[in-house]
Amino acid sequence: MRLFTRIAISIFISTTVPILLLYLTVSGRVSFQTDMIVILTTGLIMMIWIYSSIVRPLEALRKATQNIKDGNLDFTLDVETDDEIGELTADFEEMRIRLKESQEEKLISDRESKELISNIAHDLKTPITTIRGYAEGILDGVAATPEMQDKYVRTIYNKSVEMTGLIEELTFYSKIDTNRIPYNFIRLKVRDYFDDCADEIRLDVEGKGIRFDYNCSVDPEELVIADPEQLHKVINNIVGNSVKYMNRDLKIITMNISDIGDFIQCDLSDTGKGVAKKDLTLIFERFYRTDASRNSSQGGSGIGLSIVKKIVEDHGGRIWASCEEGEGLTIHFILRKYVSPVGEQES
Ligand SMILES: Nc1ncnc2c1ncn2[C@@H]1O[C@H](COP(=O)(O)OP(=O)(O)OP(=O)(O)O)[C@@H](O)[C@H]1O
Ligand SMILES: [Mg+2]
Repeated sequence: MRLFTRIAISIFISTTVPILLLYLTVSGRVSFQTDMIVILTTGLIMMIWIYSSIVRPLEALRKATQNIKDGNLDFTLDVETDDEIGELTADFEEMRIRLKESQEEKLISDRESKELISNIAHDLKTPITTIRGYAEGILDGVAATPEMQDKYVRTIYNKSVEMTGLIEELTFYSKIDTNRIPYNFIRLKVRDYFDDCADEIRLDVEGKGIRFDYNCSVDPEELVIADPEQLHKVINNIVGNSVKYMNRDLKIITMNISDIGDFIQCDLSDTGKGVAKKDLTLIFERFYRTDASRNSSQGGSGIGLSIVKKIVEDHGGRIWASCEEGEGLTIHFILRKYVSPVGEQES
């Protein structure tokens, strides 16, 4: 019932009942006591009616306003009537829901930007460590021959180019509104791409006394849709871990690329210390390290594989790890093959 109707009914009852009673009393049909009882009962009913339909909802609204003022948005306002106060309550509830949504969005965005900064700091740490290692090699005279010096300087140069790219990426992120990775997906020839990666990995790890075995059994024409730079990050992080956790005399890293129907699978294995079965899924979680005290001395922050997982999943792929008792770790990931639409194939 609308508020106007309610007020009109109240006024009507509170004026007509006494007039009617006065008439009945004067004409001797009801006694004075009956008058009193009827007037008091009518007044009580009117009070309860007005209280429950106007005062109570207004009190609930006042409490809700107080809650919002104190920054608490975790409550619900029930709409009990269909009058103007009910409409006001419904609007108020909608405003609360919107405020709560925008508060949650802000929290997510803050978390994402923190994550992003730590991801980029993590990515920058890798080339900086390499540059430092190779510069120290030159200073300490480890690179004795001109060929070795040339190789060291080239690596320093390549890594500094990589850093420039990362800093550009950071500038780009800070300019866009969203904190998400702006992927640049293109069609990649699987074999060409992984052949180039393998050359780069070989150059990097063989300098550290690690053998690198590479095998690709994929058709040269096979394609995937991927962002080459982000995929590069995936491989660099996995290989970086293999190098970091290689604690045996037999040091081998293997990269196997195979065709498994609708997907291309990449398996990266090492002969390092491996990971216990119970940790195989946990290593992809942010900040998870199987041996925190030891890794911290090796500079690990436990975010490398979480970035890797995110990138692979953003590509529509899947990633997992396996490790046989007493053997090194293998990281597997799959990417869906690109199948060109029928029309495109014909043309
Ligand atoms: N190849 C590997 N051999 C043995 N353990 C590994 C290997 N790769 C990862 N791990 C384990 O998984 C954990 C998580 O790896 P992740 O790359 O996420 O972090 P991190 O290497 O410790 O630090 P960050 O990569 O952030 O510098 C590592 O701390 C390590 O315990
Ligand atoms: Mg790592």
